[in-house]
Amino acid sequence: MDKIALRRPIFLCGMMGSGKSTVGRKLATELEVPFCDLDEMIVEKAGLSIPEIFEQKGEGSFRALERKLLIRESQYFKGVMSLGGGSLQNQHIVDHLKIYGWLIFLDVPHSVISDRVEGDANRPMLKAGSSEKEDNASGSKIERLLEQRLPLYRQAEITVNAGDRPADEIVHEIIKKLTLYDGFNRR
Ligand code: S3P
Repeated sequence: MDKIALRRPIFLCGMMGSGKSTVGRKLATELEVPFCDLDEMIVEKAGLSIPEIFEQKGEGSFRALERKLLIRESQYFKGVMSLGGGSLQNQHIVDHLKIYGWLIFLDVPHSVISDRVEGDANRPMLKAGSSEKEDNASGSKIERLLEQRLPLYRQAEITVNAGDRPADEIVHEIIKKLTLYDGFNRR
């Protein structure tokens, strides 16, 4: 594959368990640019794990920190950034990310997501008592969260089917599409 030079940052969005971090790291390695994980930045800034932030400060506080870091970092970062599943909190954030970089959606069916994340203690959004109070079954929570978030995810410039495919294949599809859309210079 041709070597290409990244001119704008790449923001990977999609549900928890869609492979954003795995694909993001590989994509950054392939493009020879820095990789950054928004969840890791939040943990570092807060000095707490994500479940601890949710438990001690609540989801609202997590979302405020997530929003602040994302809006700020996205203006300076030059590389591949994997977002959290809920990072596209509103239309303003989607518009902002598309102005500063490429927004790419890793599309995975809810059944695959459920298989991947079921019972994961590090996913506070799946716990009873999270914002989806009325239903404790993680499968249907995922379905509902996905339904709420799809209108924002679907505004990404590039959508890649990321359900049960090897990460390398997904990475190559992303690079191919970005090259086609002329966002890159050949090196
Ligand atoms: C969340 C997804 C998580 C993390 C937090 C909230 C969500 O990130 O940001 O637990 O609302 O879907 P991943 O998508 O990387 O798991």
